[in-house]
Amino acid sequence: MKSDTKLINSGRDKKWTQGGVNPVIQRASTMIFENVAEMKHATRNRMNDTLFYGRRGTTTNFAFSKAMTDLEGGAGCALYPCGTAAITSALLSFLKHGDHLLMVDNTYEPTRGFCDSILKNMGITTTYYDPMIGEGIRDLIQENTRVLFLESPGSNTMEVQDVPTLSSIAHETDITVILDNTWASGLLFKPFDFGVDVSVQAATKYIVGHSDAMIGTATANEKHWPQLRENSYLLGQCASPDDCSLALRGLRTLSVRMAQHQASALKVAHWLNEQPIVTKILHPAFDTCPGHEFYKRDFTGSNGLFSFQVNCSDENKINAMLDSLHHFKMGFSWGGFESLVLPVNGLKQLRTAKPWQQEGRLIRLHIGLEDVDDLIEDLAQALTHLS
Ligand SMILES: Cc1ncc(COP(=O)(O)O)c(C=O)c1O
Repeated sequence: MKSDTKLINSGRDKKWTQGGVNPVIQRASTMIFENVAEMKHATRNRMNDTLFYGRRGTTTNFAFSKAMTDLEGGAGCALYPCGTAAITSALLSFLKHGDHLLMVDNTYEPTRGFCDSILKNMGITTTYYDPMIGEGIRDLIQENTRVLFLESPGSNTMEVQDVPTLSSIAHETDITVILDNTWASGLLFKPFDFGVDVSVQAATKYIVGHSDAMIGTATANEKHWPQLRENSYLLGQCASPDDCSLALRGLRTLSVRMAQHQASALKVAHWLNEQPIVTKILHPAFDTCPGHEFYKRDFTGSNGLFSFQVNCSDENKINAMLDSLHHFKMGFSWGGFESLVLPVNGLKQLRTAKPWQQEGRLIRLHIGLEDVDDLIEDLAQALTHLS
């Protein structure tokens, strides 16, 4: 099956749809067994999509988990109430007291917060590394390094990492490679073809696609799946069947939405690139973006999220520009049908491996599914506030 056909059919086994087009929403905590033999059968098979107890999932969860496994290409997928829970549970599944973690410096801010507080208090040390480090990662590996965490492209500054090089170096010493694959959404980059062991997503973004649910996923290869599944379960992680159903609905249109996000974002980015006040475009498809060569080599396309830098540090002017936008709403998320804008703050404090040196302000855009000419017109009037 080709990728688009798979997106339509994944997770639609008749035992989950019960004859309808979509998997039914099965809400449940308690499962009732007819007799002891049935209960024993459920207990034995509780890890294999068999109804046992709500926290292990209902048929709706099984359907979404299977669809995500098909999309990402791993051996199994654990579900979480949000992307952050997927990240923290994946880390906790493979780290213990005394271990060392290599964390990419441009990671999503709460991931950094988790390393600097909870992991630190547990006696797990973190070294942040430059996303562009490549072969240099070898020098940072310690005897107790157990996990290498990647996020590619990285939050806000969009550096694309050399995933196959980093993964193969990590595997020389049996280090588990975990990737935040939210930007690619399992569609634009196939993590297991590039040596990743666990691929995490905030399915809250493009998978759900409509900004109306929060859900996280972590998909693992054969070797890592049993440990991820069991440890996530022991941590009490699960997802609501209603949210799984919304995510399944979003998944069916992921590919067509993404094609439009990509086309509109590229048009906006090229237009911005022509504006004198804009000094840099940080979009993986632009050669001004660090790691563009890895994007060209490893990705099949891009989405609606990118950043641009303006030659203006006057806070009042920046605020006036942001406040004047009509179609771009201000918000911390992305991946829905709507356009969003976010001023990127605190980069100087958030980078510790390699200080953020660039002057000027960085603004992140999510290009939604509105008519792209309306979006450009909106940006054109907004940029006049900067001069
Ligand atoms: C790259 C990335 N990873 C993870 C998350 C966390 O997802 P959630 O908001 O579902 O916890 C986000 C949210 O913005 C994100 O941008």
